[in-house]
Amino acid sequence: DWNSGNVIAEQVARIREQVGSGRVICGLSGGVDSAVAAAIVHEAVGDQLVCIFVDHGLLRKNEREQVENDYVASTGVRLVTIDAREQFLNALAGVSDPEQKRKIIGREFIRSFEAAEKALVAEAAADGEPIRFLVQGTLYPDVVESGGGTGTANIKSHHNVGGLPEDLQFELVEPLRTLFKDEVRAIGRELGLPEVIVGRQPFPGPGLGIRIVGEVTADRLEILQDADAIAREELTRAGLDQEIWQCPVVLLADVRSVGVQGDGRTYGHPIVLRPVSSEDAMTADWTRLPYDVLARISNRITNEVREVNRVVLDVTSKPPGTIEWE
Ligand code: XMP
Repeated sequence: DWNSGNVIAEQVARIREQVGSGRVICGLSGGVDSAVAAAIVHEAVGDQLVCIFVDHGLLRKNEREQVENDYVASTGVRLVTIDAREQFLNALAGVSDPEQKRKIIGREFIRSFEAAEKALVAEAAADGEPIRFLVQGTLYPDVVESGGGTGTANIKSHHNVGGLPEDLQFELVEPLRTLFKDEVRAIGRELGLPEVIVGRQPFPGPGLGIRIVGEVTADRLEILQDADAIAREELTRAGLDQEIWQCPVVLLADVRSVGVQGDGRTYGHPIVLRPVSSEDAMTADWTRLPYDVLARISNRITNEVREVNRVVLDVTSKPPGTIEWE
């Protein structure tokens, strides 16, 4: 019968056998899968592993700190963070079309990851211990979906900016290949990873970039990060995390409406709450959140986020509405 301790022990042995004394790299996305995959590999080969984390500025509030501080403290993983915020903002300037945004974010992600990867590869080669392995957090459902091929990177094409192009220079290490999501979370907990990472709900690779309807700017990102953090905090406090598949918070950046806040009339932006219940994200229903929780979220956002003067609730199922607004 299934036991996370056994799975970890098995994988650790398998990884040691596969990589020997070779060096390994892994991209961390901030999500559950890459975090757990890297933690198992680190358990197996320690500092032969180095992780790369690209901060593209489209992350949720405090996500970078959670990886840099909490994750590193609990795993001891060697981490290189790339600050690519400027690069992404520049590339996204003037762009409102959702698919265009996805393309740009995907392209810039690969660009910055590969630059970091090259630098590490060169450094390791100069040391006489080349990097020969790449960790991927491929899960069992991904393997099935892509026809069960082995040894290559199988990433759903329109998803996962965190996924990389098939990189033939590396042999893949895939410690989660036989596992389902809830098993991955159990293993993460067994390895002592922070709950903020292990319990994380699905979050799209392009991040907040596709939750700002309109052009992505630094100011707008900050507004959305603040509103999103409040919504998540209140949902967690109300004990609703298990009930909700995910709850996108969306900034309608090109829409303004009149409000009264504090002493005067304001002309601010609406924030949309999109709580959904789902099994697999293919279909979804809007979650019937308790009114008092909605009221608290609305009050706090309009009090604490100056540029937002209206909070609206999306009550559309999928289909016809997708979960994300873009
Ligand atoms: P939709 O909006 O298509 O979303 O109903 C279904 C699920 O996929 C996530 N999603 C994405 N994930 N890159 C990702 O990695 C993307 O471009 C992307 N678009 C949507 C969404 O959060 C939901 O869980």
